[in-house]
Amino acid sequence: MTDTASVFSRLRHVLQSTYFFQSLKLNELDELIGHLRMIRVQKGYEIIKQGDPGDAFYLIASGKVSVWVKKGFSKKQVATLNADEFFGEMALISNEPRNATVVAEDITELFILQRYDFDKILMKNPAIAQELKKSYYERKEKNK
Ligand code: CMP
Repeated sequence: MTDTASVFSRLRHVLQSTYFFQSLKLNELDELIGHLRMIRVQKGYEIIKQGDPGDAFYLIASGKVSVWVKKGFSKKQVATLNADEFFGEMALISNEPRNATVVAEDITELFILQRYDFDKILMKNPAIAQELKKSYYERKEKNK
């Protein structure tokens, strides 16, 4: 097997066991793999900054992140997210700036999907789009 083929089949295996991607058909999963990027960040790394424009969606492959919302002069932690959980969907769904700052709390591995592919692959899948929108409204409500 070539290096590229073995990376592809390993990634396919990882994504098939990722709960969030369960409803993707095999061809959709393969399309997704072609567009996902994986990065590893150190503890303390700021992945998203509140107020920035949204350009990508993130799924945590391993590690954990904290989510902080700043209002006026106060900054409050609203969540901790772990492996298999996602973030960065709110700005993409609503076209608003980023709602919160997201910081790595450990060495964290992330799958990243650019906005165009998020719309084209994830929002086209009814089960995933529903889950993303549900989470968008719940998080929005929580941050009020
Ligand atoms: P976005 O606004 O694009 O960028 C910051 C992200 O933090 C946001 O999308 C959500 O994915 C995440 N986020 C914001 N508020 C919460 C919350 N209350 N609980 C969990 N995640 C949140």
